[in-house]
Amino acid sequence: MNENVIEAYTHGIVLAPMAGSTDSAFRRLCRRMGATAVVTEMVAAAGLSRKSAKTCRYLRFTPEEKPIGVQLFGNTPIDFERSAALVSDMGFDFIDINAGCPVKKVARSGSGSSLLKDIPKLTALVRATVSGTSLPVTVKIRLGWSPEEPVPDALPRLLADEGAVAIAVHGRYRSDMFSGKVRKEGIERIVRNSPIPVLANGESTSVQSALDLRDSTGATGLLIGRGALGNPWLFRGLISGDPSKAIPASTEYREIIMEHLSMMKEYVPTEYVYHILRGHLVNYLRGFRGASALREKAVRINSDQQVEELIREMEIALSEEGMPEK
Ligand SMILES: Cc1cc2nc3c(=O)[nH]c(=O)nc-3n(C[C@H](O)[C@H](O)[C@H](O)COP(=O)(O)O)c2cc1C
Repeated sequence: MNENVIEAYTHGIVLAPMAGSTDSAFRRLCRRMGATAVVTEMVAAAGLSRKSAKTCRYLRFTPEEKPIGVQLFGNTPIDFERSAALVSDMGFDFIDINAGCPVKKVARSGSGSSLLKDIPKLTALVRATVSGTSLPVTVKIRLGWSPEEPVPDALPRLLADEGAVAIAVHGRYRSDMFSGKVRKEGIERIVRNSPIPVLANGESTSVQSALDLRDSTGATGLLIGRGALGNPWLFRGLISGDPSKAIPASTEYREIIMEHLSMMKEYVPTEYVYHILRGHLVNYLRGFRGASALREKAVRINSDQQVEELIREMEIALSEEGMPEK
């Protein structure tokens, strides 16, 4: 195991996996801005073990993204073992297991957050993954299914006993979905009970709130989710510890958006490029004054020329109204 690589995850400031948002282009931009490691969007272990072309699409990455983990979700040990063996030769640095996704379709099938109610199944998935690979295996969890059904104190040790090398914990219950204040004391409890490094996750939208989450919980590292969407500069601020570096210069919107578009063109079929870019543009517009009119335009973008026009309007808004509040 390459200790430096896994340390970039366990003791770093890492881009969280976000389905539909953290594609290869965005992961590259975040790494350039200082993210110490990245993770793919969640990939179905069942689809992967069948080598489904649709699932394999999510495995594409470039060397610039490394260290990179691939995140698997599912509910069947043999799928995890086969998938782990398959991805081991693809250049990934670690394998992460999703035990936190609250979405009904995923949880109802016994995957994601529902594993927090079935610890024997979760530990069996970790065991199967470890047996299929020589890569480090990590697990991403929540605090439990609900405040009435927290994960047991023994969970971090059980995961470590199966061979997991780190745990990322989103400081919410499944019943919280994605809202409400992040529960720092819950993360702290996991940290206290864990023999392996723990990354804290949740509500890290500013340099101060993110570093405070890590330091107040005793976590070794941070996983940054929605705060990074449309705002890869957050990593620059976090790595330097200087909040002013998280604010882009007005010219940087153009640079980042054009770069994002050009990287997407390398691997996204032409007919889908603008469709996917629209979601990212809406994220980049977060906090802009007059954002709703700009958003209307962003969601209809269909050509390079329209991207250029939108950027020009963003630059006008920036010069007239100042930098957005992210
Ligand atoms: C749109 C979206 C997609 C997500 N997809 C995944 C995923 O594929 N795998 C995963 O483990 N978590 C996923 N998450 C959860 C995030 O990784 C993270 O745990 C959560 O957003 C809390 O962190 P934050 O408050 O910093 O956003 C997703 C979250 C969002 C908002």
